Amino acid sequence: MTTRPRRRPDRPHFSSGPCAKRPGWNTGVLDAALVGRSHRAGPAKARIQEVADRSRAILGLPEDWRLGLVPASDTGAVEMILWSVLGARGVDMLAWESFGSGWVRDVAQQLRIEDRRVIEADYGRLPDLSSVDFDHDVVFTWNGTTSGVRVPDADWIASDRRGLTICDATSAAFAMDLAWDKLDIVTWSWQKVLGGEAGHGMLALSPRAVERLESYSPPWPMPKIFRITKAGKLDQSIFEGSTINTPSMLCVEDAVDGLRWAESVGGLEGLISRSQANLAAVAAWVENSAWTEFLAEDPATRSSTSMCLRIVDEWAHGRDPKAVAATVKAAAKRLDSEGIAYDIGSYRDAPAGLRLWGGATVETSDLEALLPWLDWAWAEAKADAKDA
Ligand SMILES: Cc1ncc(COP(=O)(O)O)c(C=O)c1O
Repeated sequence: MTTRPRRRPDRPHFSSGPCAKRPGWNTGVLDAALVGRSHRAGPAKARIQEVADRSRAILGLPEDWRLGLVPASDTGAVEMILWSVLGARGVDMLAWESFGSGWVRDVAQQLRIEDRRVIEADYGRLPDLSSVDFDHDVVFTWNGTTSGVRVPDADWIASDRRGLTICDATSAAFAMDLAWDKLDIVTWSWQKVLGGEAGHGMLALSPRAVERLESYSPPWPMPKIFRITKAGKLDQSIFEGSTINTPSMLCVEDAVDGLRWAESVGGLEGLISRSQANLAAVAAWVENSAWTEFLAEDPATRSSTSMCLRIVDEWAHGRDPKAVAATVKAAAKRLDSEGIAYDIGSYRDAPAGLRLWGGATVETSDLEALLPWLDWAWAEAKADAKDA
C-alpha cells in the first residue's frame, strides 16, 4: 500500500499551457489595464511597446532585431512567418513531436512546397541534426512541448548558413538560453513560461529575416492577419507598438505584470534557474521511481519546462497499452479531483504518461509536494484497474 501523502502542493497548477500564473498573482494586477480605450491610443501603444521592451531586455535580444505582437498566439506567429518567408529556397522541416509535425503538415499540405525535406524522430528522441542542410531554410521547435525533448544547444546550426532558421520557442523562451546568433526568426506566446494569457503571439526577426521579407514575395495569397509587409517593405509599425488587429489590453497588462515579476526574480538567469530547480526535483524522484522514466532518452535533451514521463512499471509489461493508458488517465483524474494536480496527463497524440510543467512560475516546493502524490495515485489507479 502506498500511503496517502499529507502535504499538498500550495498550487495544483502544473498544466503545460496555459501555465501557472506567477506566484502571488491576483486579478488586482490588472487594475491599471487600459480597458475601454483604443489600442491605438498613445498610452495603449506605449503599454504594448512595454511588453516588447521588457521582453527584449530580459531575453537579451540583439539590438538590431525587431520584436512585435501578432495575432493568434504562437500558432499565429509561426504560421504568419511560414507563409511569409518560405518558398524562396528549399526548406528542412525538423519534427520530433506533435507541434513540429503540425508545421511539417502545413508546409506539405497547405503551402505545398515541393523542395522540402522532413527530418523526423519519434517521441523521446531528437532527429539527426547533423543532416540538416543550412542552404535551406530550417524550421524547428526549440522545446518539443509534447515529448519533453529539447535541443540542448545551437551548436548544430551553421554560422555561415544561407537559409533562415525559424524557431518555435514557445515553451523554451524565458526558461532556456536561446542562441540568438544562430536564429533568424523566433516565436513564442505569453501563456507559457511567464504564465500570461493566451491569444497573443510574439515574433522576433533578425536583420536577415527582414531582408528576406523585403526581397521575397510568396506566390500565394496572404490573409490580412498574416501581412507583415506593406508595398514590399516590413511594416515597421508592428514593431513599434501597433498591431495588425485589436489585442486585449487586459492580456497586455497581464503580460507586463509577468515581465515585471520575471525581472524581480533575477531576469533570464533567475527564470532559468527556477526551471532547472524544477527539473532537478523531478529528476531526483524519477531516478528512484520504479514506474516512470523520462520520455526524453538523452538527459541532455530533457526539457525543464514540459517534463514528460512514460510508464515503465513491470505491471504494464505485456498489458494492453490501452489499459495502461486508461490507468494513467485515471491516476491523473484522481489527482485533479483531489485538487492536487490539474492537467498533468500527457498530450493527446503523445505516448501515455504524465506531463508536469516546470516553467519559472511553478514553485519547486509545489512539485516536491506533488511527487509522493503521483506514487499514491498510480498505486490507487492500478488497484482499481485490477478490480475492474
Ligand atoms: C511548441 C509549441 N508550438 C506551438 C504551440 C501552440 O501555441 P498557441 O496555442 O499559443 O498558439 C504550443 C502550445 O502548447 C507549443 O507548445
